[in-house]
Amino acid sequence: MSNNMKFKRKIVTIERYILENQPDYARGDFTNLLYDIAMAAKLIANKTTRAGLADILGSAGEVNVQGEEQQQLDVYADRTIFRLCDHTGRVCAMASEEHEDILEIPSEFQKGRYVLVYDPLDGSSNIDVNVSIGTIFGIYRCVDWANRGRVEDCLQPGRKLLAAGYVLYGASTMLVYSTGQGVHGFTLDPHIGEFLLSHPDLRFPDPTYYSANHGYYQRWSEGVQAYTSWLQGNQQEEKDAPQGLSERYIGSLVADFHRNLLKGGVFMYPGEKNKPNGKIRLLYEAAPLAYLAHHAGGYASNGQQSILDLTPADLHDRTPFFIGNTRLVQKAEDFIKRLD
Ligand code: AHG
Ligand code: MN
Ligand code: MN
Repeated sequence: MSNNMKFKRKIVTIERYILENQPDYARGDFTNLLYDIAMAAKLIANKTTRAGLADILGSAGEVNVQGEEQQQLDVYADRTIFRLCDHTGRVCAMASEEHEDILEIPSEFQKGRYVLVYDPLDGSSNIDVNVSIGTIFGIYRCVDWANRGRVEDCLQPGRKLLAAGYVLYGASTMLVYSTGQGVHGFTLDPHIGEFLLSHPDLRFPDPTYYSANHGYYQRWSEGVQAYTSWLQGNQQEEKDAPQGLSERYIGSLVADFHRNLLKGGVFMYPGEKNKPNGKIRLLYEAAPLAYLAHHAGGYASNGQQSILDLTPADLHDRTPFFIGNTRLVQKAEDFIKRLD
């Protein structure tokens, strides 16, 4: 019986799954940190489902370090994750897309060995219109135990991730994570308040979709434009062009990635002529999803090399981003190398 079938017949909570499948090095701290994130996901999901009802909807009127207006839900998600993880003794520092500097552990609490980086609310332009949004997270080990809790702990390449995942607040809420032993998806049963294993061992199937914001086509490089034409099946570009890919773009990276993970495909947010690094943040978005893609049999690139090999110089570095089925992403690298 396949693993898939075996688990489909069982009710497995995320708590039990995390405990029974923890990596060899994991002691209680690592396992409990993952569980803390699952708890944060439930609290945030509880707010997102009420977004159209409560006064939470709308802008907080603040502007984040990326120069974008924050929504109240961003603020809530950001604070919830921090508050769940700041006092447990499991984490020595955190970094959130919403803060310029690292988030230090308050002095009254102990620092642990792990580092948590997160995009608390991804796809925030979709909050007000009832379209799927998400949370992305990555977990590293501190680089220097004696001096733990510094920005250096956060500035690590994706290759060093111990775990990564995302939460998708969609028609249902899902948490998808990996500790390097496959990628597993859990769906929140809102009636019992538990994430239940629903998608064990996710792997990219043959591609169905490509995802990009075509509104920016004119801003893309020649290589990216030719690659797009290849994705659309243009055999003149190269004889091995895929046939029958359909286009889907939500504008919430988590939702676009999730759909492509389930259905196969490629997502890209390339550099633009006046914005060579594009929009996607290396630390909070690209690296954790690249880690998941890798463990689901896929690949993520900046157009030249694996995202997992890029070390951020700054917490808020951005990177061109191509992610999904390995062959499709490598093809982007080919076009860029040849034409740009
Ligand atoms: P965030 O809401 O965390 O700032 O991220 C938004 C990102 C990402 O989710 C999405 O893929 C991209 O912005 C969409 O950008 P465009 O509207 O430029 O296509
Ligand atoms: Mn984001
Ligand atoms: Mn965000």
